[in-house]
This record gives sequence, C-alpha cells and structure tokens, in this order.
Amino acid sequence: MTLIERIGEMVKNAFEGEGTGHDWFHIDRVRKVALKLAESEGANMEVVELAALLHDIADHKFHDNDLSAGPAKARELILEYGGSPELADRVGTIISETSYKGAGVETPVSSIESAVVQDADRLDAIGAIGVARTFAYGGSTNQPIYDPELQPVLHNDFEAYAKTRTSTINHFYEKLLLLKERINTESGKRMADERHDFMQSFLDQFHAEWEGRR
Ligand code: ADP
Ligand code: NI
Repeated sequence: MTLIERIGEMVKNAFEGEGTGHDWFHIDRVRKVALKLAESEGANMEVVELAALLHDIADHKFHDNDLSAGPAKARELILEYGGSPELADRVGTIISETSYKGAGVETPVSSIESAVVQDADRLDAIGAIGVARTFAYGGSTNQPIYDPELQPVLHNDFEAYAKTRTSTINHFYEKLLLLKERINTESGKRMADERHDFMQSFLDQFHAEWEGRR
C-alpha cells in the first residue's frame, strides 16, 4: 500500500462513527473536492491529498483550542508512516493554515496546495451539507438552535471566537455566510456561490417560520 492508502485507512478507522460533523465522510468529501480543485489549479496532488486526510486529526475544538496540536500530530504521523521530513513539514504547514479563527482574523495561505485544502474544508461547511453539519455540531455541544436574545458577534481574535457561547443560527452569521468572500481559488468560488445562496434561502425560510410568517 502507498503512504496515502495507509494513512487513509488509519484516518478512516479513527473517524468512523464520529457524531459532531467531523466524521470520516467529511474528511472523504474534503479529500475529493480538494483533489478536484488541485487538478484545476495545478497543485501537488500528493501533498493536497495527505493534508486533506489529516486536516482534522487533532482539531483545536477537541484539544482545548490548541491550534498547534493538529499540525504537530499530522507531522508526527507522516514521519511514523515513512514519509519524508519535507513532506511532513509541507502538510503540517497547510493544516496550520486551514482553520477558520473568527470573522476578523485573517487566515492567509502560503501555497496553492494550502489554498486548495482550505477551500475544500470551507466548502464542506456551507450549502446543504454545511447546514446539516452545523446543527450536528451544535447538538453535540448542547448549543441552542436559536436564541433571539443572543446577537451574532464578529470576533477579532481566535480566543474570543473559540470561547463565546452562541446559537447555531448565529454561527451562520459569525462564520458560514462570510466564507464565500474568503474562498481562495476561482474553481472554489464557483462552487461556493450556489452553496451560499442555498444557505441564505434556508435562513430566510427559518426566520419566516420562526415568526409565523410562512
Ligand atoms: P474549519 O474546518 O473551517 O475550521 P470547523 O472545524 O471550525 O471548520 O468546523 C467544522 C464544522 O463545525 C463546520 O460545519 C462548522 O460550521 C461547525 N461549527 C463550528 N463551530 C460551530 C458552532 N459554534 N456552532 C455550530 N456549528 C459549528
Ligand atoms: Ni474539516
């Protein structure tokens, strides 16, 4: 088996049955979309596929908001599975750049491979899949679906973004509706447009029903 196949198998075993929206199928969708974008953008396919497979391996949300846990774990695994230190570094850097860290926090990418993986992960947070994952995640943390008393907050630092209690509907205004403007690649932007419009009509319908207008 190749390095990618062996790492793919390990990640699949680790994420199967996960219930917060960070399950194996999320990883697999990100991998597929990332490879599709990589092809259009001329990015290195091996680096992109490994980074997509490992991007949530030790996500900060499940490690006391520690942003260095994921990249460190990915580097360690690539070396353990026989990859070169250069490959481990390239993948670790991409993973350190992938996460959203709040509305006012820039998340620049340092390579086309990183651009593609960040886009693919963000595309999976919007659209119909995004709606489903967001409510799954909100349920897993006991967050209210919606609370009209809670105003959305556009966070300027990661600490505040990670710590603030919010509602799942607010999460759309604090992150999901902002992602379209932050997609890096042209091919990613084309996919984001339709997904964005779908989310917007979901929210319009939600508010209309909430107020008994429809
Ligand atoms: P990214 O990989 O872009 O950093 P995350 O790992 O933060 O995204 O989020 C993964 C999924 O969990 C997404 O669908 C995201 O919208 C959802 N999520 C994150 N925080 C919240 C929250 N406070 N409420 C609801 N969903 C959330
Ligand atoms: Ni992800």
